Amino acid sequence: MNIHTYEKLWLVGAMLLIVGFIATVTYGAVGVGVTMIDDSEETIDPTQLDEDERFSEPRVEQVGENEYDVYVVARQFMFQPDPIEVPAGSDVTFYVTSADVIHSFSVAGTNVNTMVIPGEVSTMTVEFDEPGEYGIVCNEYCGSGHHAMEAMLIVQPEDEFELEEGEN
Ligand code: CUA
Repeated sequence: MNIHTYEKLWLVGAMLLIVGFIATVTYGAVGVGVTMIDDSEETIDPTQLDEDERFSEPRVEQVGENEYDVYVVARQFMFQPDPIEVPAGSDVTFYVTSADVIHSFSVAGTNVNTMVIPGEVSTMTVEFDEPGEYGIVCNEYCGSGHHAMEAMLIVQPEDEFELEEGEN
């Protein structure tokens, strides 16, 4: 078969485009640092949060010298705990779940912005370098009080931070 050079060029170009599309989609799904919400997320019964070891008492917990876990419950129309206080310069891992409907956990002025889905635990680790106060808002419409659903994240100077005594 005799293919015209010009036509060959178009064929190669079209192939490259297809490969490019596939690569882009693949990267979006599994690329380093790219996370998507999917079925592999940990599941939890949203009606049984009171019985859950982590979420019955939403809190900040120190898990390493410079590492903190924060268990957050989003519900109509609040976040618990509020405020969330962590020290500057530490790695903070948020575990967020919903007690009722879909919310979001979005920290204004940062790239912390995740959907919070009942039955799932959204997880993300962040380091806050500078002390400061950040507003936490809900970006998913969740009912009549959606616009008022907010909380505060306070990043304390390292030397002033003191973890409130919990029951555990
Ligand atoms: Cu919760 Cu909007």
